[in-house]
Amino acid sequence: MEEKVIEFRDSSQAAGINDQFGRALRDLRISVMDRCNFRCPYCMPEDKYHKDFQFMGSDERLSFDEITRLARLFAGIGVHKLRITGGEPLLRAGLPDLIGDLGAIEGIDDVALTTNGILLPQHAAALKAAGLDRVTVSLDSLDEKIFLTMSGGRGSKDKVLRGISEAAEAGLTPIKINAVIKRDMNESAVFELIEHFRGTGVIVRFIEYMDVGTINHWQRSDTVPAAELLQRISERWAITPAQRNYHGEVASRYIFDDGAGEIGFITSVSEPFCGSCTRARLSSDGKLYTCLFASSGLDLRGPLRAGASDAELLELLTSAWRSRTDRYSEERAEGKDRSEKVEMYYIGG
Ligand code: GTP
Ligand code: 5AD
Ligand code: SF4
Ligand code: SF4
Repeated sequence: MEEKVIEFRDSSQAAGINDQFGRALRDLRISVMDRCNFRCPYCMPEDKYHKDFQFMGSDERLSFDEITRLARLFAGIGVHKLRITGGEPLLRAGLPDLIGDLGAIEGIDDVALTTNGILLPQHAAALKAAGLDRVTVSLDSLDEKIFLTMSGGRGSKDKVLRGISEAAEAGLTPIKINAVIKRDMNESAVFELIEHFRGTGVIVRFIEYMDVGTINHWQRSDTVPAAELLQRISERWAITPAQRNYHGEVASRYIFDDGAGEIGFITSVSEPFCGSCTRARLSSDGKLYTCLFASSGLDLRGPLRAGASDAELLELLTSAWRSRTDRYSEERAEGKDRSEKVEMYYIGG
């Protein structure tokens, strides 16, 4: 397929590259840590990720300089949003240094971080001072018992709430909450979270439980379709759909008619959004994945450490994106399955 060079309306953006379906590369999600201090059963079940599990050694993870070099190259081909993920990214020592370097890259206008929130009280102020724009906090329930079932017995909802308050205090806004809703597990969280956060400026998003990775034994019946939640919510509060904030935004947004803010739905299962997917993912050991459900990634650490030039690395990134044909969530909707998929904790959601 012939390459299309897209023009961004904002002339400060670098011209980008398109994949085989004409999708531009705009967002890079960078996993900085494969470890996590939670053991959510749908992501890192304790029986597999036990105390003797071999996570990466620190020399296997990309260094901050290596990450920054790659991010700069990505920015040169159209990436303007960065999201730091994990595992739990706040377990990576010295993270504010990396944030500072990433925020200074020309063309990057948004640096966000996804966290389970437990370590935010210690780190929020330093992250903000380093230039982090905002945080998204995962929080699946406000019922302590359900929370603990879903976190693998780690942390507590009060600690996460304190992390959210500290992040707000530090100005890491707008804060978003990611709640994965699993049928018969935490459906009650939908009303609880809305009641708690309505009117606070915090945006709650409900994520359909997905078949990420190979260990969560996903069944379609575990997913509560967003349309069903929307129906229940709109029986209680008047809400109106809103435009997406930007092309490729994953959440469908709804605004409370009484002015108490907005909520969102991430409908990867019931209404896949592959058609506008502008996201690439970099694992902490330096592999490039062009889909959350990919079976394999392109090793960039090898060439980086073997002394590849910027031009050579750029060629790798560019050809990986140009040849991209990923549309897994649409394929799932068409009934196709895939047995080998990268794990969520490793690729960061
Ligand atoms: P902003 O719009 O920049 O605030 O962030 P975001 O919604 O892109 O990022 P976030 O990490 O909060 O995404 C929320 C969740 O949506 C992720 O944790 C995933 O579960 C899901 N998600 C994000 N991107 C994709 C994607 O490309 N494909 C699928 N299937 N799910 C995604
Ligand atoms: N389906 C949907 N979301 C998931 N997450 C982890 N596993 C799944 C899954 N199977 C969410 C986390 C976090 C984000 C990074 O991805 O709860 O909010
Ligand atoms: Fe950790 Fe997030 Fe996975 Fe839970 S879902 S184990 S918080 S990386
Ligand atoms: Fe993008 Fe893959 Fe998610 Fe589709 S399934 S939206 S291609 S990451």
